[in-house]
Amino acid sequence: MARLYATRRASYPAAMDKRFLITGGAGFIGSHLSERLIRAGQRVIVLDDFSTGRIENLSSVLPSQNFQLVRDSVENELTVNTLMASCDAVFHLAAAVGVQLVLDEPVRTIRTTIHGTEVVLDSANRFARPVLITSSSEVYGKGTRVPFDEDDDVVMGPTSTTRYCYAYSKGIDEFLGLAYFKQYGLACDHRTAVQYRRTATGGPVRDGAAAIRHRGTEE
Ligand SMILES: NC(=O)c1ccc[n+]([C@@H]2O[C@H](COP(=O)([O-])OP(=O)(O)OC[C@H]3O[C@@H](n4cnc5c(N)ncnc54)[C@H](O)[C@@H]3O)[C@@H](O)[C@H]2O)c1
Repeated sequence: MARLYATRRASYPAAMDKRFLITGGAGFIGSHLSERLIRAGQRVIVLDDFSTGRIENLSSVLPSQNFQLVRDSVENELTVNTLMASCDAVFHLAAAVGVQLVLDEPVRTIRTTIHGTEVVLDSANRFARPVLITSSSEVYGKGTRVPFDEDDDVVMGPTSTTRYCYAYSKGIDEFLGLAYFKQYGLACDHRTAVQYRRTATGGPVRDGAAAIRHRGTEE
């Protein structure tokens, strides 16, 4: 995992008895995160449209009185604002994930990634909630210098190759997160955007097709 940046640790909620909103919480990472938080005695609201997520992923947390599930799109501003108002912090994981999905539905990929993140950041800023934005190691592009660094120059594939829309979109998400931090975060400790670049991760409940490392696939 890449190092964190644009962080202000002071603005994080204390560990105990907080309510976390997890967008895309029925997916691979979100469902494991939900389990972990519920086990730790926290309260969790999952917002997911179940486009790729599955209800079975949440079977262990559904019975918990500390768990709430909302089936809707992260692009629905009214829903996000309502949930944001009632939570303490946000893990924004909702995205169109998986090589085949990106190739089959590039419009949805771009819209969910960029517009969904815009809705979440705007709402988090409005309600002064810390938010974690999940980016991707795809943003490193074709760089070969090891170790990678967020400040490295990036060589990206052409826009005529559909699969790169995921990487570009995640890059715009990073710009958005940093822009909200720079433009609004300096004024208030609670308006903090944190983001990190995930590398490909697999494990229980992971859809095999989606777990293929993106770099291995050129359209
Ligand atoms: N798992 C990895 O290897 C990896 C690598 C790099 C980045 N990431 C990022 O981490 C995050 C989580 O990845 P994951 O592996 O859990 O993916 P996943 O596909 O398992 O989960 C994504 C979830 O988002 C939901 N979703 C999609 N569009 C939505 C929308 N418009 N509204 C609400 N929910 C929506 C899906 O139904 C799904 O449950 C994503 O942002 C992804 O880009 C993951």
